[in-house]
Amino acid sequence: MEQTFVMVKPDGVQRSLVGEIIRRIESKGYKLKAIKFMIISQELAREHYVEHVDKAFFKDLLSFITSGPVVAMVWEGEGVIASMRLLMGKTNPTEAEPGTIRGDLAVKVDQNIIHGSDSPEAAQREISLFFQEREIIDYNRAIDRWIS
Ligand code: RTP
Ligand code: MG
Repeated sequence: MEQTFVMVKPDGVQRSLVGEIIRRIESKGYKLKAIKFMIISQELAREHYVEHVDKAFFKDLLSFITSGPVVAMVWEGEGVIASMRLLMGKTNPTEAEPGTIRGDLAVKVDQNIIHGSDSPEAAQREISLFFQEREIIDYNRAIDRWIS
């Protein structure tokens, strides 16, 4: 079954939106596979955002993402990678549709409260950057037969 990496960014934690964000993903029907409350090191931040290393906003992005605790998660479900991007809404919250996490809860592109992997390759890479295999939990839910 498909898995994706999701993170509530430092602004989401500071704004007490962790529960609201998890509620939306849980209510959709996706299954929580792993979760960690942590502060991202400079090294991990660099690796996580390596695709943006040449961008003008890279330095600011690193100091933002390491500025406070985040909630790192693995979520599982059919089509979860693309669907999570839809649930999140566009990168710039001013362009994100109402009904999406960023559209409803965020205002600025550099403080857009949530990260989600943008492809199967990124999902696999990011999951293994943040989690060891034994931290990803296999279990059955009573509701699984209604969802998967
Ligand atoms: P993310 O990786 O954080 O989930 O966001 P994303 O895929 O929607 O957007 P991406 O293109 O990967 O950009 C990564 C993060 O960089 C910040 N950004 N700032 N100042 C700017 O113009 C600018 N552009 C992007 C955003 O916080 C974005 O989430
Ligand atoms: Mg991205």
